[in-house]
Amino acid sequence: MKILFVASELFPYVKTGGLGDVMAALPRAMRAQGADVRMLLPAYPAILSAVEVQGSVLALPELMGGGPARILRAEAPGLPLYLLDQPAFFGRAGGPYDHPSDLARRFAALGWAAAHLGRQGDGEGWRPELLHGHDWPTGLMPAYVAYGEGPRPATVMTIHNIAFQGRFPAALLNELWLPRHAFTPEGVEFHGDIGYLKAGLRLADRLSTVSPTYAREIQQAGGHGLEGLLAHRSDSLRGILNGVDRSIWHPARDPHLVCRYDLKHPSRRGPNRPDFQRRMGLQEDPAAPLFAAVSRLDPLKGLDLVLDNVDHLVSRGAQLAVLGTGDPHAEGAFRQAAQRHPGRVAVHIGYSEPLAHQAYAAADVFLVPSRQEPCGLTQLYALAYGALPLVRRTGGLADTVVGVTPETLAAGTATGFTFETASGWALGEAINQALALFREPTAWRQVQRRGMATEFGWEGPARAYLDLYATIPTKGA
Ligand code: ADP
Ligand code: GLC
Repeated sequence: MKILFVASELFPYVKTGGLGDVMAALPRAMRAQGADVRMLLPAYPAILSAVEVQGSVLALPELMGGGPARILRAEAPGLPLYLLDQPAFFGRAGGPYDHPSDLARRFAALGWAAAHLGRQGDGEGWRPELLHGHDWPTGLMPAYVAYGEGPRPATVMTIHNIAFQGRFPAALLNELWLPRHAFTPEGVEFHGDIGYLKAGLRLADRLSTVSPTYAREIQQAGGHGLEGLLAHRSDSLRGILNGVDRSIWHPARDPHLVCRYDLKHPSRRGPNRPDFQRRMGLQEDPAAPLFAAVSRLDPLKGLDLVLDNVDHLVSRGAQLAVLGTGDPHAEGAFRQAAQRHPGRVAVHIGYSEPLAHQAYAAADVFLVPSRQEPCGLTQLYALAYGALPLVRRTGGLADTVVGVTPETLAAGTATGFTFETASGWALGEAINQALALFREPTAWRQVQRRGMATEFGWEGPARAYLDLYATIPTKGA
């Protein structure tokens, strides 16, 4: 089956979070199972300078008011690409979601280009039978398929985060090349606006999200206004857990670490800790339990609960390292916390792939206190690297971390710590539990080993997506 993934991020070229990681791993895992998956994404400068462009397959004099556009054929290692080359929209410096004035039009352009490839093929004999869009930037793609002429490829939408929906004024309808009759609750309309994610969820043949628990939550209170629609489409919605790309995230092969290690050589993890402490400006205290977080600083990530616990952690002799960027208020608060506790609390405001790898390899406890978490990859990387995740029991965190209790300890199934209520107090209790276990090295190592031995591979998820595609009745196109 010919499948076209459509997305706005792809590691290592463009990544703001887990979406980039998943886009790098999932299509390759599906290709390894024999599926002919290719990917369409914007021709960002960072991609154009890194991949091999093989030529132009399609040229348009004008697309969505952004001037001339081309679709290029390119090749990333192990993944054939189509790149939407439209310099006015995608050729500028900055992150993929910067430049708000044409955000609506440029991701409409991406959705339209995907539908166009689905209808016409690439002119070189490759026409996708199925278009698979990821998150709101691709939400209009199923609409362009539904309201367009000609053959109709099947469509699938995956929700990586329902909090970001892409809502834009109804007045844009014409500029987005959508017909009047698309503006209904059965189409792209959402509370008087044009809803990109809403359109995709209403019109795609099948829907998925990135964990079974999140799939339930978004049909209930956690749907950010889309719960009714999702409950209505329940039969078409699957929760498929993300995996870990072991070619990137393996402590035995990680080029960013000063000392590589694995389950058989756990003591080699040791030198990574003073190295990370030094890089972050923490005291090289070998006895202090080291807590770390690597996160977008977004209210849903719950890092404010960590801020509530800074003094508590320090008073108990622990250290805290935070690597993150986002909400300026949270950035400032973490900077102040670091100033208040020099050598004990350190923060790196910014994005650093090497430091992130080093954090997973150095931390004793890895904090993921999210209010909502569709899947979460950081807790999976922490498990693989021997840092015990401490997570709130929500979404994919609930599906991937087994909290320490007397029963799970006895059964040998515990892999981390969990708490329920999104409050600083509840996180503080879980921190106390982690500190107590830290004083019992034998039990600690047992939990650590279990976490490191748990495999979250991409093979199973890749198969689950192919199974989901197989439930779509073939269209006569
Ligand atoms: P989300 O996609 O919601 O941000 P995930 O847990 O799925 O959450 O993925 C986060 C990804 O982004 C991980 O690969 C993590 O290591 C990375 N990441 C987050 N913040 C930073 C940062 N400041 N520096 C480097 N990597 C980061
Ligand atoms: C989103 C979610 C995160 C998930 C990632 C990849 O950004 O916030 O939980 O792991 O997408 O699916």
